[in-house]
Amino acid sequence: MKIALASDHAGYALKAGVAAYLRDRGVPFEDFGCGPGETVDYVDYGAKAARAVVAGACDRAILVCGTGLGMAVVANKFKGIRATPCASEYAAEVSRSHNDSNCLGLGGRTHSLEAALAIVRVWLETDFEGGRHARRVQKIRDIEDQNFK
Ligand code: RB5
Repeated sequence: MKIALASDHAGYALKAGVAAYLRDRGVPFEDFGCGPGETVDYVDYGAKAARAVVAGACDRAILVCGTGLGMAVVANKFKGIRATPCASEYAAEVSRSHNDSNCLGLGGRTHSLEAALAIVRVWLETDFEGGRHARRVQKIRDIEDQNFK
């Protein structure tokens, strides 16, 4: 599984910690920016990572801004993206098992590195349950088909 990683300036330090975690565990990833010392708009970097997932170049994305919220809003504008800002390991688990989340939103101003890495671990390791949840995710796809031209 290849991860698209992106942040704005508010998420840069936490993104660096997530990148080190992924590297240590041999999880392939591509960092779509931003770089250190830049002040940027989260919209541009969330969009780059979401596009990589939509195009199939990456399987999932981890998006870090101040809160994880703005990045998730951006990513959810792309057809096929189910971006979930997760504030807890429980949310991360259910975002995968029920929602088949393919983008995780984390906050550099709201998560400690330790808390964020625990969330990342659960989010990476939890499988989608399917079953009744597959029916619900299909309904989300149906709404996308109606709304995305
Ligand atoms: C940047 O100051 C901040 O607005 C951004 O990182 C993010 O929290 C937006 O959702």
